[in-house]
Amino acid sequence: MAKELATQYFSTGNDNENDHDENSLESVISLLPKASGGSKYGISLYQNCWFPSSIIPNIISFQNQFKPKDQDTILASFPKSGTTWLISLLFSILNRNQHYEQHPLLTTNPHLLVPSLEFSIYSNPKFHDLSSMPSPRLVSTHMPYASLSDHSTNHCSSKPRIVYVSRNPLDVIVSFWHYAKGHPARHSHELTVGDFVDMFCSGEINFGPYWDHVLGYWKASLERPEEVLFLKYEDLKEDGVGQAKRVAEFVGVPFSREEESDGVVEQILEMCSFGKLKDLDVNKHGQFKPNFDNKLFFRKGQVGDWVNHLTPSMADCVNEIIKEKFSGSGLSLIRM
Ligand code: A3P
Repeated sequence: MAKELATQYFSTGNDNENDHDENSLESVISLLPKASGGSKYGISLYQNCWFPSSIIPNIISFQNQFKPKDQDTILASFPKSGTTWLISLLFSILNRNQHYEQHPLLTTNPHLLVPSLEFSIYSNPKFHDLSSMPSPRLVSTHMPYASLSDHSTNHCSSKPRIVYVSRNPLDVIVSFWHYAKGHPARHSHELTVGDFVDMFCSGEINFGPYWDHVLGYWKASLERPEEVLFLKYEDLKEDGVGQAKRVAEFVGVPFSREEESDGVVEQILEMCSFGKLKDLDVNKHGQFKPNFDNKLFFRKGQVGDWVNHLTPSMADCVNEIIKEKFSGSGLSLIRM
């Protein structure tokens, strides 16, 4: 209902986003179901996903304005699943033949090299003019597949390639909790890890429910493997070379035999490794934007850190839900 109202609102309005009546949009958004999601600004249920309330206008702008090109690559993920790692890898793979004086990741946070559709590009279209971005364009998103594909893949002949990275939900919860504690400008930092488990299990968390997010991309990857590549954080940790080769092939720039024997794949993995990125000056001391330190994107970068923070009963509770939701899908992300 709210989507219809919003779509109607935009399609009858002036094409110039600056001329939109923000009050009308706000009143449309105020009709949406609301929850806290641990965020100071709250989350709203739109198209069956709990979006941070502040970005719903950006989602609507994206859905009305985005014109995909065949060469586009979108890195999609549920928050805290390895977005920073994958955008670094994709950026390095796609641009490996550029002659830089020094690799851009050495001096720039990955999220500034690969902007987010909903947090950057469509929050201020003048800041990141997508139409002037050189091809192949690389962007990121936390939008669920249904919201992304609604306009970007179904109604256009051009299809972006989507690389999705998933992660064990127990590690996602712990990572999210630490991130929220480190970002008091946006999150209620008094929340315990138990509060995060409860929010996660209710589905009422940024971009939740987690299971719908993951299953949306999982099913799309099975139905349209040429459009959606589904990756697991844990597989990348276990077999970086194999997974990097899969990614390169999927985005249409496979590593040549010569590159492989020259160690190009390993060099890219080293450049994008957790230890390397975390220790760079720009990521230790820089800011992504005011009140947002780059170091928040880098914590431990390990598989299975959840054992140090979740009680067995918390883990069992999450596992039960995930088992039920994933049943029959052929997907398994829990590792005990
Ligand atoms: P932890 O909190 O478990 O350490 P996102 O980028 O989606 O926000 O995910 C953040 C998680 O990915 C954090 O997990 C972070 O430390 C980890 N991470 C960031 N860069 C990484 C890299 N290059 N390699 C592996 N993990 C990385």
